[in-house]
Amino acid sequence: MISRETGVPCKFRRATLLLPLLLLTALRCASAQTIGFSQVGTESGWRTAFSADMKAEAGRRGINLLFSDAQQSSERQKEAIRGFIASHVNAIIVAPVVVTGWTPILQEAKDANVPVFIADRAVDADPSLFVTRIAANFNLEGRLAGAWLAQASRGRCNIVELQGTPDSAPTIERRNGFASIISRFPDMRIVVSKTGNFTMAGGRDAMAGIIAETGGLKDICAVWSHNDDMILGAIEAMHRHGLHPGHDQLMVSVDGVPGIFKAMAAGDANASVELKSAIGKYIFDVVQGWLGGKRDCPKWVVIPNDLHTPEDAARMLGTMPARRFRHLVGSS
Ligand code: AHR
Repeated sequence: MISRETGVPCKFRRATLLLPLLLLTALRCASAQTIGFSQVGTESGWRTAFSADMKAEAGRRGINLLFSDAQQSSERQKEAIRGFIASHVNAIIVAPVVVTGWTPILQEAKDANVPVFIADRAVDADPSLFVTRIAANFNLEGRLAGAWLAQASRGRCNIVELQGTPDSAPTIERRNGFASIISRFPDMRIVVSKTGNFTMAGGRDAMAGIIAETGGLKDICAVWSHNDDMILGAIEAMHRHGLHPGHDQLMVSVDGVPGIFKAMAAGDANASVELKSAIGKYIFDVVQGWLGGKRDCPKWVVIPNDLHTPEDAARMLGTMPARRFRHLVGSS
C-alpha cells in the first residue's frame, strides 16, 4: 500500500518512523543508570510498600536498580555498599538501619567518587559525606501524635509507649518529638515504655507483657506506638485479654498503612500520622537531578506528613472521595 500524503510505500514509511524510536530506545538502554539501593529490611507494612514503590519507580524510569535487603543489619548494609562501589554504580541510595557507624563506609564511597543519597532514616555522619537526605520529619510525626493525644485526652493521660528499633532515627526522633509536647502537660506521662522493633509480633509480645505488668492496663489512658505494625500487634494482644482498644485506651501511631485504617473503621484505633511510602518519585527525582548536573539541592529534602483519624479511614482505604475542605489543611 502507498501512503497518500507521501507517495512512499507504507511499509517503508513505517520503518522510517520506527527507526528514530528504535535508535532512541537503544541509546537509552546503552546509557541506563545503575543505582544501588540498600534497604533496611521487611519489618513493617510501610517498609514493604516503600520497597515495592522504589522498584516500580526505577522500572518506570528505565533505571537498573540493584536492590539489597539488609534484613535489619547495618553491617550487611556496609557490605552491600562496598559491592555497589565495586560494581561502579552511578549512585547509591541507603536507608540506614541505625544512625551511628557510617563515617568509614561513606568515606569509601566518596573516595571512589560514588555519590550517596540517604533515604528515610538519618545518619549522624558528617553531611559532607553524602549528597542529601530525602525523608519525612520524624520529630514532627512525634509532635503531631503528642498534640493529637493532648487534645483527645484533655491533657490528662497515663501513656504506654511502644518503641521502634533502638538507635534508629524514627525511634529517637519520634520519641523526642512526642516527649517535647506532652512535657507541656503536667498530667500527661509515659508510665511504661517497651520496644517492639517496628514489627507486629514485637508489638504483640510487648503489649502482652505490659498487660500482665499493669493488671490489664489499669489506669492507662493511651497507647502511643512508633509505628502502625506494632500497634496492630498490640490491638491483637489487647483483644486476646478481653480489652477494648480504641474505647478504653486511645490508640495513636505512625505510618498510615491500610491495616490501621481498617482498625480505625472497626473502632480499634484512633489516629495515625501518615508516613508516605510512595516516595520513589521524590528520591529518584533528586538522584537523577544530581546525576544530570543539578547541584543546588538542600541537605534535607523534606517529604510532608499528615495526621489521620477515623473520619479519614474510608477515604484512605479508597472507598470514599476526598473531603471537600482538604485543600485548606494540606493534602496527603
Ligand atoms: O523508618 C521508617 C520506619 O521504619 C517506619 O515508620 C516503620 O514502619 C519502619 O519500620
